[in-house]
Amino acid sequence: MFSGLFKKKNSADSVVGIDIGSSAIKVVQLSEKRGRVVLDTYGALALGPYSGAEVGQATNLSSDKTASALSEILNEAKITAKNAAIAIPFGSTLMTIIELPAASEKHLKDIIPIEAKKYVPVPINEVSLDWSLIPRDKPEPDKSRGAVEDGKESSRGKKDQKNPAEKIEVLVVAIHNDVVGKFKQIIGGVGLQSDIFEVEIFSTLRAVMEPTSEPIMIMDVGAASTKLYIVERGNVESSHTINRGSQDITSTISRSLRLPIKEAEIIKRTKGLGFREDRELGGAIFLTLDHIFSEAGKVMRNYRSKSGQVLNKVILVGGGSGMKGFAEAASANLQVEVLSGDPFSKVEAPAFVSDLLKNTGPEFAGAVGVALRYFSE
Ligand SMILES: Nc1ncnc2c1ncn2[C@@H]1O[C@H](COP(=O)(O)OP(=O)(O)OP(=O)(O)O)[C@@H](O)[C@H]1O
Ligand SMILES: [Mg+2]
Repeated sequence: MFSGLFKKKNSADSVVGIDIGSSAIKVVQLSEKRGRVVLDTYGALALGPYSGAEVGQATNLSSDKTASALSEILNEAKITAKNAAIAIPFGSTLMTIIELPAASEKHLKDIIPIEAKKYVPVPINEVSLDWSLIPRDKPEPDKSRGAVEDGKESSRGKKDQKNPAEKIEVLVVAIHNDVVGKFKQIIGGVGLQSDIFEVEIFSTLRAVMEPTSEPIMIMDVGAASTKLYIVERGNVESSHTINRGSQDITSTISRSLRLPIKEAEIIKRTKGLGFREDRELGGAIFLTLDHIFSEAGKVMRNYRSKSGQVLNKVILVGGGSGMKGFAEAASANLQVEVLSGDPFSKVEAPAFVSDLLKNTGPEFAGAVGVALRYFSE
């Protein structure tokens, strides 16, 4: 599951983007060469076997075990960068939109921690906060949105509003310091240095969004859950988590076809929904997919009735969305255009691997996106 395909350069101007998901670690090394961001190498490693589970299953590993898994994939993928950028799992963060009087815009640094107290269920000094103004008028995808740097507050993404309305909306993200601490320990444990810790939602957004004013939904199909992000004019409008993911498809295949998890996983990955004649397999897969699509459909309808805008496009990321027939099934079910995220299109890579990168892209959106952040500073 790795490919050290590309030429290595020295590590001075390169970064490794790291996405530690519940079921797999993804790493992507990018370098800047003559003003261009180039893909050096990338790789993924399943975590299941580190906790006695199978490939494709979600885990909850200690920092030590995570560090040894990370070390293994850094070696396998021949990562040489010493700087790391880390995507923080969305599930360990709290995100909320706070409405404030326009007059408070100049004092956000003081006001946000006070306001955030109302939404954060732990003492405010136990979390790292970040925020960004939600622009009112112009579409403006923000590269640095939602970043938490080195556990400290940062207020990037602030913009001058030329025409201040009465109220402003601010997107606030809180991450518990223990979470940042755990990631620092893991990164330190493998000899990397990092001061970029970013909530995965923003990394993913950077990796797959094109400038567009129409609202879209990003669907991240992971192992244990499916995350939905509604993006309006380049900004996250809301997020939802569905407690089903691709490992549940493996479980239903295993139960319906009476196969061990390991074999069910292989069938899911090789056949998926690609064989129409295989009704039994399709039926097993749809036991999970129906739930995911019906929840996603509800989220889309709610958004429509709340905002008066229609979501016409869904972008897929996450390993689970790579299943054969997933995009077609999603499109038929949700009645919208469904595209697979193509994060590697944002970096330079040899043409002969472009098909491969298109196929593996959705799985690597978080890792590519957080690595790109390093060059956007
Ligand atoms: N080609 C494929 N076909 C079907 N399922 C796949 C394929 N490749 C990976 N998966 C499934 O995708 C899931 C892993 O996706 P991903 O790596 O995005 O999850 P994760 O980041 O570990 O999870 P999360 O983000 O929820 O913590 C696994 O359950 C795996 O079985
Ligand atoms: Mg993930």
